Amino acid sequence: MTMKTKYYHVLNYGCQMNESDSEHYAGQLEEMGYAPTATPEEADVVVINTCCVRESAELRILGKIGEMKRVKARHPGQVLCVAGCMAQKDGEALLKKYPQIDLLLGTSYVNSFRKLFETYLGDREKGAYTSLEVQSSEFEGTRVRESGFSAWIPIMYGCNNFCTYCIVPYVRGRERSRSIDNILEEVEKAVARGYTEITLLGQNVDSYGKDFLRDGALDKLGATDATSVQEPFAALLRAVDRVPGLQRVHFMTSHPRDMSEEVIRTVAEGTHLCEQFHVALQSGSDRVLKEMNRGYTGARFLELVRLIRRYIPDASITTDIIVGFPGETEEDFEATCRLVEEARFDAAYTFLYSPRSGTPAARRKDQVPDAVKHARLQRLMDIQNRISLSIHEGWRGKTVEVMAEGPTEKDSRIWSGRTRGNKLVLWPQGEGTEGGEGCLRPVVPGQLVHVLITNPQTWLLKGRRVD
Ligand code: SAH
Ligand code: SF4
Ligand code: F3S
Repeated sequence: MTMKTKYYHVLNYGCQMNESDSEHYAGQLEEMGYAPTATPEEADVVVINTCCVRESAELRILGKIGEMKRVKARHPGQVLCVAGCMAQKDGEALLKKYPQIDLLLGTSYVNSFRKLFETYLGDREKGAYTSLEVQSSEFEGTRVRESGFSAWIPIMYGCNNFCTYCIVPYVRGRERSRSIDNILEEVEKAVARGYTEITLLGQNVDSYGKDFLRDGALDKLGATDATSVQEPFAALLRAVDRVPGLQRVHFMTSHPRDMSEEVIRTVAEGTHLCEQFHVALQSGSDRVLKEMNRGYTGARFLELVRLIRRYIPDASITTDIIVGFPGETEEDFEATCRLVEEARFDAAYTFLYSPRSGTPAARRKDQVPDAVKHARLQRLMDIQNRISLSIHEGWRGKTVEVMAEGPTEKDSRIWSGRTRGNKLVLWPQGEGTEGGEGCLRPVVPGQLVHVLITNPQTWLLKGRRVD
């Protein structure tokens, strides 16, 4: 007798950490014999992995959960699982408002999803099932990765920083690092399966392993004495760099307060460690930085940028900036603009401040009016776009090493890939391309190719293959 195949669909929202978690949900569902579907309509189980970092994200997700009511009505027996940060934050209130939810899972159930899902299925007649307690988690099991050559590797979960605008520490819990052996084992397995690029993930990668140092759990860092592991993150980078078969190692996010010279030196001296730093500035005003509880000043941030460029002159440096934090004056905002001019980021992700209830900044009375926030965001984006274009102009006529990703959606004759600095590069492949510049040599996703940059733009670099 053959069993009817069951299907799953995972919808992901939010940051890379969530993408990584979603791959893990998919992996466990496949272990249980489920196969993926392209849309939620055909699926027997739908997992919505949620984000609550800004209100805009929440509104989109709530719309999707709302839509699932109709989808479920046409597919009796379909299981709707809502997981991740918003589930953690809103808990039972979500269930009350959206009775179509069957399973509500907090952020630390990624590793035990299979067990919980099976318990739920066995007990289904009892109704909706909730698991929200924050627990520690060590990686087990498999993942189904989106990409065939590039793998997310979480090195730690949670955050201890409590920046006053941010909800993440409340929904992701305290920092918990994975042991070095556990991480290396996952990296080696990924390489054995053909992955050549990895990105080490954490809310603050520079505090990797500090929990082990504090608790005296030196064995988790592969050490017996504390002096040998003064800088656990740098030690991890060096260990990962030695894994045979890996081509590229990225990491994110770095915290300007904690990022050390040792980490920069390690990247400079490494072979596969990519010269890319995502260091979140958030604001260029010392007063606002203090009120955000960030632990550095604008001057210290610039010193860090200079230090990176001293070791690695063409390092790619990107950042996150919030506009319209409560009490942000015109002078504060101008300080941010000045700092952005001086730092010359390759790219900046700019956000309108969004009050998150439960965080200290959301309780403040001096919220900045929406119109002011929008106008400032536009000014800041104009400045950054001009800088990005001028940095990219500097790549004109240079040849860069690109890891090929695949054909673009718009035109399959145009391929995209990334530089070591994670810049998007486009080039023509095959016959019949515009200007006949298409490279006739074959290419597969994950392959390293060389592209001569002929047309730099604000968001990407265009060129032709020269290898
Ligand atoms: N841990 C990472 C990123 C966390 S969230 C870091 O500290 O760099 C990603 C970005 O979202 C943050 O860097 C911040 O710029 C932005 N962000 C967080 N809370 C926000 C809020 N309430 N409103 C607007 N942007 C926010
Ligand atoms: Fe949020 Fe700050 Fe932690 Fe980043 S470091 S996740 S911005 S609290
Ligand atoms: Fe990431 Fe959003 Fe959660 S940014 S940590 S998915 S709140």
